[in-house]
Amino acid sequence: MQQLPTMAIILNCTESAIKDAATSLISGNLVAFPTETVYGLGADATNEDAIARIYTVKGRPTGHPIIVHISSMAHLDKWAREIPEYAIKLARSFWPGPMTLILPRTALAKDFITGEQDNVGIRVPSHTVALELLKEFEFQGGSGVAAPSANRFGAVSPTTAKAVELELGNYLSPSDQILDGGHCDVGIESTIIDCTGKTPIILRPGAITIEMIQKVIIGLTESDLYSALSDQIKAPGSLESHYAPKAKVVLNGRSGNGDGFIALSSIPTPSGSIRLASPADNEEFARVLYQALRSADSSGLQNVYVVLPSRVGIGAAINDRLRKAAFSG
Ligand code: TXA
Ligand code: MG
Repeated sequence: MQQLPTMAIILNCTESAIKDAATSLISGNLVAFPTETVYGLGADATNEDAIARIYTVKGRPTGHPIIVHISSMAHLDKWAREIPEYAIKLARSFWPGPMTLILPRTALAKDFITGEQDNVGIRVPSHTVALELLKEFEFQGGSGVAAPSANRFGAVSPTTAKAVELELGNYLSPSDQILDGGHCDVGIESTIIDCTGKTPIILRPGAITIEMIQKVIIGLTESDLYSALSDQIKAPGSLESHYAPKAKVVLNGRSGNGDGFIALSSIPTPSGSIRLASPADNEEFARVLYQALRSADSSGLQNVYVVLPSRVGIGAAINDRLRKAAFSG
């Protein structure tokens, strides 16, 4: 049987490989790349056709906004205007890093990026490969790289290049690429903070935690920061079942024979259950979670039981993702 040509997987992200990848983005191709949170599926954020391909490859319904990635705060003014003082403080404190700021958009952020909203999501990632790619892309005349997580719509975000290949390999073209930068350090998606109002509001919890934000912007209570989270509609990832493997995710239940089991290492495996991860703390829990959920699917397990960690620090984000993964309504 003839093998169909597939996208290139770049194992060694040398300077010249990064240059090629940036040129490929400028030409309108897709480049999946590692960030410290999860792998992103990148495209030139000003190229409507390239963005349309992101939707096709992800199988994502149209109208969802996509985060624009830039290499430093110096490029923020291209994309965002009327940036509040508190947003500057957050950017100075946590960029490069796992945080996305939602800000009023400039004319450069077109409807096909913002989902027709008047604001745009911006992030400066800290992964070396991501930063080098963004710098080179800007050097070659680009303004920003739009990148949703590199998974099919509603599925678990990939934290390795192999996982990107398994998710999207059948949908990418031979001219697209996947840059392999190893396993993502954080393991779950960035904290998204709405900076369009008087005070910041967390739309999606992540590794930049409520405690960290409160240290930078003095006087904010937890309910100030989370006021929109319960019923907000802006980040669609927060509504439907999301971040979900094929296996059924069950939270804090009693697992039985042949069920997958994920819990902190201090919690013993119930007899007959199949241990998928034993993280020592909440940080490691975030790092290994998505790979553990994927391994449930690759082993053909029907159920994965997860003992939720405390909501302390990144634990809040783990609880958020697992509740969405377990959602079946
Ligand atoms: O860590 C991350 O944020 C990763 C890496 C690749 O940067 N990206 C990521 O993108 O998770 P995505 O598209 O899978 O999830 C972004 C979420 C979506 O639910 C989207 O609707 C929301 O952020 N979002 C993006 N721009 C927005 C905006 N302008 N207003 C409100 N929500 C926005
Ligand atoms: Mg996503």
